[in-house]
Amino acid sequence: MSQEDANLEARLEEQEAFDPPESFVEQANVTDPGIYEEFEENWPDCWERAADLISWDEEYDTVLEDGDAPFYEWFTGGELNASYNCLDRHVEDGRADEAAIEWVGELGETRSYTYDELLAEVNEFAATLRGLGVEEDDVVTLYMPMIPELPIAMLACARIGAPHSVVFAGFSADALATRMNSADSEYLVTCDGYYRRGDALDHISKTNEGLEGVEHEVSDVVVVDRLGDDLEHSLADNQHDYDELVADYEGETVEPVSRDAEDMLFLMYTSGTTGQPKGVKHTTGGYLAYTAWTSRAVLDIEADDTYWCAADIGWITGHSYIVYGPLALGTTSVMYEGTPDYPEKDRLWQIVEDYGVDIFYTAPTAIRAFMKWGKEYPEKHDLSSLRLLGTVGEPINPRAWKWYYKHIGNEECPIVDTWWQTETGGMMITTLPGINTMKPGSAGPPLPGIDARVVSASGEEVDAGQAGYVTVDKPWPGMLRTLYNNDERFINEYWREYSDEETDEWVYFPEDGAKIDDDSYITILGRVDDVINVSGHRLGTMEIESAVVGVDGIAEAAVVGGDHEVKGEAVYVYAIPEDGYDADAELEERAVEGVLDSIGPIAKPEDVVFTPELPKTRSGKIMRRLLEDIASGNELGNTSTLRNPGVVDDIAAQVEES
Ligand code: PRX
Repeated sequence: MSQEDANLEARLEEQEAFDPPESFVEQANVTDPGIYEEFEENWPDCWERAADLISWDEEYDTVLEDGDAPFYEWFTGGELNASYNCLDRHVEDGRADEAAIEWVGELGETRSYTYDELLAEVNEFAATLRGLGVEEDDVVTLYMPMIPELPIAMLACARIGAPHSVVFAGFSADALATRMNSADSEYLVTCDGYYRRGDALDHISKTNEGLEGVEHEVSDVVVVDRLGDDLEHSLADNQHDYDELVADYEGETVEPVSRDAEDMLFLMYTSGTTGQPKGVKHTTGGYLAYTAWTSRAVLDIEADDTYWCAADIGWITGHSYIVYGPLALGTTSVMYEGTPDYPEKDRLWQIVEDYGVDIFYTAPTAIRAFMKWGKEYPEKHDLSSLRLLGTVGEPINPRAWKWYYKHIGNEECPIVDTWWQTETGGMMITTLPGINTMKPGSAGPPLPGIDARVVSASGEEVDAGQAGYVTVDKPWPGMLRTLYNNDERFINEYWREYSDEETDEWVYFPEDGAKIDDDSYITILGRVDDVINVSGHRLGTMEIESAVVGVDGIAEAAVVGGDHEVKGEAVYVYAIPEDGYDADAELEERAVEGVLDSIGPIAKPEDVVFTPELPKTRSGKIMRRLLEDIASGNELGNTSTLRNPGVVDDIAAQVEES
């Protein structure tokens, strides 16, 4: 390292607060610090500012309807169509020839869709879905990787008022079946396969295996041909080739259906404390207004920008900030099919340079990987088009933050560290980039209008410097409305902990721990339930446990998250073999296979440790904390309350050996 570099590193290391660069502030969408007070004084009418970013077919009568809390309703009486808002209105505004989606395939091919072209594709696929018999309110499952047909199908569903349920393509056949069963979904759009690190991956076999597990009749399956001759496969009677089917509807247009603001736009399944994934229901008006508003205020998106959220549309980040928010604002959204290190570790920076990306949004796990690969990769490219950087999905350590700030942003781009969840629909806690000082590692204050606090177990706000739990004490437009077909679980999961049902005061509990700083900034510490965060992906330990226990030869298992340098957390399995089975490499392999089959490669265990016993309290509960400490290589906590204290040392010794 040169002396100059070393001085710079030393300066950055010491610096704890960063003001937004002047050049950014001068042009930012939101710059008046009075916005916080304005929202507070005007709450809930302040949210009209978000609703004003949307075109309504029918104006709403009421901003917030809270008569049946916590089943809140937003912008009631209003009618709109999300696809119209993301497409037609921009075409009508004379922006038909502006790029809506710039798609980059892993092998180097590109596809560019102007707003006009995207609208035509969406119209044709909407007509196709109608032709298949899809009606308003039918849930259509989309099991697709990062190919343009995915956002096209989402917007086509939105156009005809059919909610979509996107299942991440990396999820297993079982996961697809569980979600289709839960949503009673009779239609599926999928593809033959896709490319990963240059290899053609077979997706249709996995799809077909999943379909075998669907308990009801599936009317139609539409299969995008992504691989051409690279994969031979046949189609069953109810399966149709996407291009052939759509060709019958060439040039057709479909009038966007006016949806009630509270009609469901989509379902998104996410992991929770129990083994069953939760179907988070998002509605049309509040969600679209909220994602558009946060895209504008936090990501600073303007129509003329080229914006890139390098997430997968199979997760909420991609729904809100690749598709709905950015397209509602009429910007250009970049979509990349592949991995960041294929063919080389500078792939993303090449794309930033090629497209002149203005705004870049990714997860800390990716930033830690970039750091590991070295600054020479971004240094090969001209990244001067960048104006703003963002992170999402997990806490970012100050070192990674500073690396991102310096080596990607050249100290000229503010970073927004955005805390939110599948359930919140959009960002909740983050700095506003044109207003607030940034503090690496701390997400920042709650957004204007968001009443997030850090409280003790009994619900009292904690003092500065103290840790506690995040709560949100007032509703917001992007919030989930319920868990699909399960109002009771909705109340139990999110509202029971801190609400006072007698006085009808409802408090949302996101199940995250946090610390409050003396300037009211919130530092998120992580989940306080049985959910772990692997590379920014949310996984339920119970789901993984039931996969492991489902393996022949395994009697009992405990799954925990342990610290991981790049992934943030990684999956560790501690399992007791059944009598008569050897704790050998074959059993380990089968345990891993069990997880891959039931969830997918993202949940792949880092390590499987066999043990004759698991550490348990006298009442028989597994002491996960201790296993987490072992997995993370931490000092072991108190074992005196255990029924079998000796087992902890045995397990720790075994881990050390391996
Ligand atoms: O623990 C928090 C963490 O991710 C969880 C939500 O996961 P999911 O619903 O999959 O949505 C991820 C993308 C929005 C949260 O409960 N999380 C998310 N963003 C941050 C974060 N933790 C710390 N800092 C963040 N910026």
